[in-house]
Amino acid sequence: MERLFSGMQPTQDAHIGNWLGAIRNWVALQDRYECLYCVVDLHALTAPYDPRVMRERVLNLAAAFLACGVDPAKSTVFVQSAVPEHTELTWLLACQTGLGALERMTQFKDKSDQNADNINAGLLFYPVLMAADILAYRAQVVPVGEDQVQHLELAREIVRKFNRAFGDTFPEPRPIVPEGSAKRILGLDGNAKMSKSKGNAIALVEEPATVRKLLASAYTDPERKRRTDPGRPEVCNVFTLHGFFTAPSRVEGIAGDCRSAALGCVDCKKELAENLLVALEPIRRRYLEVRADEEGLRAVLAAGAERARALARETLVLARRNMGLVEGGRRA
Ligand code: TYM
Repeated sequence: MERLFSGMQPTQDAHIGNWLGAIRNWVALQDRYECLYCVVDLHALTAPYDPRVMRERVLNLAAAFLACGVDPAKSTVFVQSAVPEHTELTWLLACQTGLGALERMTQFKDKSDQNADNINAGLLFYPVLMAADILAYRAQVVPVGEDQVQHLELAREIVRKFNRAFGDTFPEPRPIVPEGSAKRILGLDGNAKMSKSKGNAIALVEEPATVRKLLASAYTDPERKRRTDPGRPEVCNVFTLHGFFTAPSRVEGIAGDCRSAALGCVDCKKELAENLLVALEPIRRRYLEVRADEEGLRAVLAAGAERARALARETLVLARRNMGLVEGGRRA
């Protein structure tokens, strides 16, 4: 079986973009690959945060993975900072990574613009840590949304450079990106990628009243100004979301009724809210259960970290040796 790695930042609670673009696939891939799923807390340190809430967020996100169907009996679920080999490998890889390539990363440029007063070195190193996450396990497969593909390409470049310099050490990881619009779910503004930092997201675990309220504020076709104007479903993000949460036969009906103005945006959004709530209800129920048993959750993460660490240690022995480092103090 090929090995698969993926991760998610505990910056805030997971949203439906994370679910449709990533976690839903993680669950489906568990039987086909040897999977490792990681809460990447070290990545989350690159943005300003309150240390008092970080611990909560890490546990919340791990609980969300399990609630969505990630099964610790099949997959290794753990927290990045519990496996220090990730940071050690980051350094080894950084010395094979061009500064120019890091500066050209779209996400680095975006985040630097967003945090002009805090462009920390961690933001620049972010993709190297991401490559280390994957390569610590010599993983071949990485399910992600489209926004992470550039980082994966850089990881592949680092592998090629490393292997050329030090001999065959790592496989080139390949991304698995969802088909169609799930690879890039837009936010409630109907414009930018749904993202925790942009405040345009619907959290995966949310009070039903909040989901209804958020969806009521969602942008639709900007040219549809009056209730009687015909709409254009093909440019409307609410319609795109119906595609994920509404029965296919009804989606066709919605498209027709939008074009003929038989259906207004307010009602269309209400219908989406109810369908979304039906889809999210089992996740929410399971999440509350898993999160209430913090001891059990911590035990899952501890077992996952132990398994992950054993694998990562093996890779680091190989990488250090191939790079010509002396196994100082260690017996070969
Ligand atoms: P993060 O935490 O921003 O997002 C986690 C996953 O969700 C996907 N995603 C989306 N997919 C579709 N539409 C959206 N609006 C959307 N927003 C987020 C992301 O593509 C991602 O798959 N750097 C990564 C985390 C990471 C990682 C790794 C991933 C760290 N190390 C190693 C894979 C392998 C990140 O910030 O994801």
